Amino acid sequence: MTETNADHNDSYPPTTEFAAAANADVSLYERAAADREGFWAEQAQRLHWHQPFTQVLDWTDAPVATWFGGGQLNVAYNCLDRHVIDGHGDQVAIHFEGEPGDTRALTYAELLAEVSRAANYLTQLGLVAGDRVAIYMPMIPEAIIAILACARLGLTHSVVFAGFSPTALRQRIDDAQARLVITTDGQWRRGTPAPLKDAVDQALTTDDAPHTVEHVLVVRRTGIEVPWTENRDLWWHDTIAHASPTHQAQPFDAEHPLFILYTSGTTGKPKGILHTSGGYLTQTSYTHHTVFDHKPDTDIYWCTADIGWITGHSYIVYGPLSNRVTQVVYEGTPNFPDEHRHFQIIEKYGVTLYYTAPTLIRTFMKWGRQIPDTHDLTSLRLLGSVGEPINPEAWRWYRDVIGAGTTPIVDTWWQTETGAIMISPLPGVTATKPGAAMTPLPGISAQVVDEEGTPVRHGETEANGYLVLDQPWPSMLRGIWGDMDRYRETYWTRYADQGWYFAGDGAKLDTDGDLWILGRVDDVMNISGHRISTAEVESALVAHPAVAEAAVVGATDPTTGQGIVAFVILTADATDTGQALITELKAQVSTQISPIARPRDIHIVPELPKTRSGKIMRRLLRDVAEGRQLGDTSTLVDPTVFESIARG
Ligand code: WTA
Repeated sequence: MTETNADHNDSYPPTTEFAAAANADVSLYERAAADREGFWAEQAQRLHWHQPFTQVLDWTDAPVATWFGGGQLNVAYNCLDRHVIDGHGDQVAIHFEGEPGDTRALTYAELLAEVSRAANYLTQLGLVAGDRVAIYMPMIPEAIIAILACARLGLTHSVVFAGFSPTALRQRIDDAQARLVITTDGQWRRGTPAPLKDAVDQALTTDDAPHTVEHVLVVRRTGIEVPWTENRDLWWHDTIAHASPTHQAQPFDAEHPLFILYTSGTTGKPKGILHTSGGYLTQTSYTHHTVFDHKPDTDIYWCTADIGWITGHSYIVYGPLSNRVTQVVYEGTPNFPDEHRHFQIIEKYGVTLYYTAPTLIRTFMKWGRQIPDTHDLTSLRLLGSVGEPINPEAWRWYRDVIGAGTTPIVDTWWQTETGAIMISPLPGVTATKPGAAMTPLPGISAQVVDEEGTPVRHGETEANGYLVLDQPWPSMLRGIWGDMDRYRETYWTRYADQGWYFAGDGAKLDTDGDLWILGRVDDVMNISGHRISTAEVESALVAHPAVAEAAVVGATDPTTGQGIVAFVILTADATDTGQALITELKAQVSTQISPIARPRDIHIVPELPKTRSGKIMRRLLRDVAEGRQLGDTSTLVDPTVFESIARG
């Protein structure tokens, strides 16, 4: 994971052919620097505004921004209707590839009709603009249809990853007070249908506590039997499928809430990140166009994320569809029925732009190049990476093996909170370096600073610090749902004097001044590109009667980036202290949070290393988990604790 200085000299300039046809050119940086707001006003013209905006940015109520004040638009209209009106109704929007091998192509005209049906039926159910809808679905076209139907009606959606447990779903339903849940009977996982609606039922019956859900709308995907609650539960095929396929989209204010997406913070309670309409769509559209060099008439785009994460929201749904994309949507895992699946899909559809996560690239590396080598991947012309730092070795492999040694790679840094890509090379412009996110995009301003906020100085040596965003940007979060104090506290107090957004990531500037992301500096782990807080896993562990105390760290893992390692102290009356308990504890975390939060290792220990003020020293536990020599133990209450951990 560490890079040497030699990497910095290893630079990949764009080819003249790519540069000549690229959507981006170097003048974007100059124009944005000369007039940032004017630049964003220009980008907003990519969209259709029912009512033009009168002010680009109002930051007087910082840290809550108003972008494109006075403007009105309909986000779904921008993603669908206008393409049909412009004569592109027959263009395929989605090539759906189901895990069992079923396929379905949806044109823009068809997608618009489906979204209109859903919008008409949701209106009939009594849902009105501002209501919240939870979407708990696998990667099938109806998930995208449901999202766009909400956007069309001004309903605020909260997509919950279909791998999350009933407990996690319930927490999110309650926090947003959702009136409706949209789900499926089940989901395909490696050839077997796994129940999903079951989880909704479980979520809604927890402790008999009251909830706000009036209806559960169910798409039949796998055909498995599902429990049914009369009057509350509704089949999609009995309702939406019969609704009218025409619907007139109404405009909403630029700042109308578009969605809430929960993400892990440093405490156990997930944060409902709130995004609004006009600024969010402007920046997702602009970045999808320039960073992926997307050409609507010729490209076949594939982002491998799940719609349960921000990457799915911004780079499967909103950015791409607003740009009239033709894209692949794949339901399943990369190794079902075998490790060839992704490469077969690239070959079958002639994918030109491919966007994935470093963890998958490292998995491909492990499987070996003989797998991609048996496929014709020559359609690919650009590769993207997101979710965690990409190590130079994986970067080179990606370019050489998947990209035939020629495709540009865009390493895109951003967050659920930023809504859209912030730091990335521009293809056709930037000479890239393996492992570096390079520079903030035109219109975006970032700095690497020390504790006090002084910009770190690079020069003959590289310099490390914290990443901050020192200017507001259109797709920035507008708050944490229901907790604006936490919003201010989490992102805006660290550099309150300067008024900067603290990203929670460490970064370095190399000797050329190019930016490298080093990873989280807080108690958030990054497992295969998924954010999981140590506190969340700890509270799932202590919920077990045998556990008195738990401390969790993210230890470096060759495939997943980080792996979860837990240290637990047992209660006095714990009877089982062996492997069976460890297995049970791992299962407990899986069911309480999600299988992605399942600890890789659990160590039962007699004590935990604590500072005199009682804080668990995670840094030291990380040393233990990674088998390193212990760092500074001078602030420990009891330095001998490690001898007992070793014995444990
Ligand atoms: C990390 C995902 C290095 C980072 C879009 C960030 C990255 C967190 C990169 C956000 C990248 C994302 N290089 N690190 N290109 N992209 N990260 O909210 O730590 O799921 O803060 O958003 O992922 O994760 P989130």
